[in-house]
Amino acid sequence: MAMTTTIGKSTVTTGKLGLGTNKVGGHNLFPNLHDEDGIAVVKAALDHGIDMLDTAYMYGLGQSEKLIGEATQGYDRSKIILATKAAQDPHNDLKPNNDPKFLTQAIDDALLRLKTDYLDIFYIHFPDDKTDKAEAVNAIANARKAGKVRAIGVSNFSLDQIKEANQDNQVDVVEDNYSLVHRDAEQNLFPYLNEHQISFVPYFPLASGLLTGKYGLDDADKFSRRFSADQFKTILAALREVDGIADAHQATLAQVFLAWYMMNPAIAVVIPGARLPEQATSNAKALDVNLRDAEYASIDELFKKFRTE
Ligand SMILES: NC(=O)c1ccc[n+]([C@@H]2O[C@H](COP(=O)([O-])OP(=O)(O)OC[C@H]3O[C@@H](n4cnc5c(N)ncnc54)[C@H](OP(=O)(O)O)[C@@H]3O)[C@@H](O)[C@H]2O)c1
Repeated sequence: MAMTTTIGKSTVTTGKLGLGTNKVGGHNLFPNLHDEDGIAVVKAALDHGIDMLDTAYMYGLGQSEKLIGEATQGYDRSKIILATKAAQDPHNDLKPNNDPKFLTQAIDDALLRLKTDYLDIFYIHFPDDKTDKAEAVNAIANARKAGKVRAIGVSNFSLDQIKEANQDNQVDVVEDNYSLVHRDAEQNLFPYLNEHQISFVPYFPLASGLLTGKYGLDDADKFSRRFSADQFKTILAALREVDGIADAHQATLAQVFLAWYMMNPAIAVVIPGARLPEQATSNAKALDVNLRDAEYASIDELFKKFRTE
């Protein structure tokens, strides 16, 4: 399923399957990560048909960007879509900062770490509570005029903050929490995004690994912050219902769900994370899974319960 998409009103065209890289160098967020694995993850993704890499300053306080800068040397830059984010201010306890000067500097710093002279997408990673959002976006628009950024994104913004940021119709893409088991964005965000030609990139698409099917009832505690015991049981039961579809395609559950997101017209690019290269290689095989319309609909129905929860 070689599908491409254009990001918002920009000229960025990318495949619909990307790589999330918070476990590439994200030592401050996850224990027991190894830089060699991170580099291998990026290469495995690029070698298996993935072209978008989603990173952020926050993943290792620059380390993820540095590893990606290293891993991508030797690849054709024009075939890679680099998306990064910033906002956490290292001079103020990593509190969000959307000040135009801070964002302008953050873009220059990211370019150096990623060893590139342009970013395909730059996102404001989190909103702060003081900066006018249109002014923050203007700082990125200026970087775009200077050729340093191709598309403008915001992440973790409420709908009101997105509207404020998009006053001059300059926002191309929104990244927010969304998966089949966390579907609030369908009601909260999708109508506005669709109306304003803003692309959507979901994070946690595999619900942090839960949708790979590798967890069982004994693992409920690991997910207790996100799901009640009942919700957790419902999810595990729904996964068993999807086993048949996965078997019919000789695919894993993760590949089936990633194919579902790629088929979903509201989703521009899906960016599953990977800790190990074999996970990235396996997830890339979702590009070969072509779900039938009835299969797409039955997965939609199975997880319908999570639309409003
Ligand atoms: N904008 C934001 O604020 C924000 C927030 C969160 C994430 N993100 C971005 O979104 C991306 C995706 O989110 P995420 O990575 O946190 O969650 P995710 O994509 O839902 O889950 C990824 C995790 O699932 C496990 N996994 C992936 N493929 C697997 C496979 N084939 N078999 C078994 N396990 C597998 C791995 O963890 P283990 O091996 O450790 O189980 C992997 O790190 C991130 O990498 C990051 O780039 C953005």
